[in-house]
Amino acid sequence: QMSDDELRAIVQRVKNEMGSRLFLPGHHYQKDEVIEFADARGDSLKLAQLSATQHEAEAIVFCGVHFMAETADILTRDDQHVYLPDMRAGCTMADMANITQTEKAWDKLMATFDDTILPLTYVNSTAAIKSFVGKHGGATVTSSNAAGMIEWAFEQKERILFLPDQHLGRNTAYDLGIPLEQMAVWDPIREELLHEVPVEEVRVILWKGHCSVHENFTTLNVEQVRNDHPDMNIIVHPECSREVVALSDYAGSTNFIINQIKDAPAGSAWAIGTEMNLVNRIIKEHPEQHIISLNPRMCPCLTMNRIDLPHLAWSLESIANGEPQNVIKVDRGVAVDAKKALDRMLERA
Ligand code: 13P
Ligand code: SF4
Repeated sequence: QMSDDELRAIVQRVKNEMGSRLFLPGHHYQKDEVIEFADARGDSLKLAQLSATQHEAEAIVFCGVHFMAETADILTRDDQHVYLPDMRAGCTMADMANITQTEKAWDKLMATFDDTILPLTYVNSTAAIKSFVGKHGGATVTSSNAAGMIEWAFEQKERILFLPDQHLGRNTAYDLGIPLEQMAVWDPIREELLHEVPVEEVRVILWKGHCSVHENFTTLNVEQVRNDHPDMNIIVHPECSREVVALSDYAGSTNFIINQIKDAPAGSAWAIGTEMNLVNRIIKEHPEQHIISLNPRMCPCLTMNRIDLPHLAWSLESIANGEPQNVIKVDRGVAVDAKKALDRMLERA
């Protein structure tokens, strides 16, 4: 059992030895003990953009979750290698859409809607889903460009299928003026479309997936904050439900949340509805503001938290020793079409 100081020394040593041959991106939801060593921190879009332009690094140790590391592998050259410090760092939302379910859904939806649908997938999805979407002319989206990408999709087809997060899809489409009645939910377990209006009036088909962290922010939490702190601004991630977003003052990606609070006048008050590590970091970095979590229990993403200092040190040491572990290699056949979906987004971001 090594002490934190010993583990930190290992990380720093490998970073020094490898210099620009190593790139260490960190998502905003990562622990402080990991973020302190990140070469860049960002939301999903920024980390994807940075991976795509990372020409020097031969090793990318991704401090985030599995789909982010896959994305980095798809966007980098074959001679660049991506590693995930703990293979168990998945994403429960990404796991809610598998390729078999998606192909089945697509066949049924095409039979109903006769080639009028363009698929879009949140980057929080497996490489296989991105590949499926890319093959059918669609694109990926992130929480910071979903609106622009949905508008782009509607320039080409009458309808969209949005995978796998129903909430980001619903919240964004609603902001673009699409009435909730024109949105239907595809249930991949029951293999059926849940719709309120006649099926030909449906314009947005939402995959029935959600984020297990953001579902913990409820309308009850919002009511509590409004009651206890009437002057507080409520800002949430669009992975929260429509009801929660509707009752909040602002909704946006992790970068949006960070920037809103950075630009706010000193002394303003905020309740934030997103992952705990980021909320705690914002609280620490802004002593001039009064900031709380929208849910007083604080909501951690258990899989993001699997990347910790011991795993980071172990991963870097394995690379330095020439026996790298936990390599993320997306099958080339899958990667080709997945890259099309990502490129369609990156061209417009
Ligand atoms: P963003 O950082 O892109 O807002 O994504 C949030 C998230 O849930 C990542 O898993
Ligand atoms: Fe997945 Fe939600 Fe965790 Fe992001 S916060 S990695 S969407 S489970």
